[in-house]
Amino acid sequence: MSSAKHIAIIMDGNGRWAELQGQKRVKGHEEGAKIVKTITTYCSLNPDIDRLTLYAFSTENWKRPRLEVEFLMKLLERYLKNELPVYLQNNVKLETIGDTKAFSKSLQKTIAKVKEKTANCDGLVQSLALNYGAKDEMLRAINILKKEKDDISETMLSDALDCKHSVDLLIRTGGDYRLSNFLLWQSAYAELVFTDTLWPDFSTQELEEILKKFTKIERRFGGLK
Ligand code: FPP
Repeated sequence: MSSAKHIAIIMDGNGRWAELQGQKRVKGHEEGAKIVKTITTYCSLNPDIDRLTLYAFSTENWKRPRLEVEFLMKLLERYLKNELPVYLQNNVKLETIGDTKAFSKSLQKTIAKVKEKTANCDGLVQSLALNYGAKDEMLRAINILKKEKDDISETMLSDALDCKHSVDLLIRTGGDYRLSNFLLWQSAYAELVFTDTLWPDFSTQELEEILKKFTKIERRFGGLK
């Protein structure tokens, strides 16, 4: 029986969720943030799950209208500030992947503060992908490693990436079947689950069902039974 220790989620469908309700797209992001909290809390209470990596803002998301980008930045900052006590209560450590240097000083400070305050939490790691793109992550790693004289090994490349942990289960909500530049190296042997559910409608019940199916999968990693 396998358990999904590292779950990664592409949280898609916020905009469509809001539009279906006749609301502005940003309302979908706001609802989406509530689901981030629900799913993180659920994972923090499940001892089989060590790490939850969430795609919150991609290197491509800068192409969205300025107001939506600004809203997402503010929402993230508000979320981190408000939820700090919940991180501590649930023993959740915050980590990030991606290049956050492009964010405002204030947001960078908030991220640093929550990371510092949760540094000793030893339960779930919630890793937020912020200004993250797998191609960007790999290029940054290669640029670090190019100073090496020896051949680059798999371990060396893996250690130079922002996310050093292979993904067991990758879920994408919102009905599309693509990886959108998310954790391409780390998901080499991930089980992929695509659901039509829009992220604000995603629930702990649906995650539980996905996890139940995952335990029945025989993972061979290219080998035989
Ligand atoms: C994709 O949906 C979602 C995003 C680009 C942002 C994800 C952000 C959140 C879930 C909320 C804030 C995050 C945290 C960690 C507090 P979309 O806008 O592309 O939806 P669409 O495909 O329906 O347009």
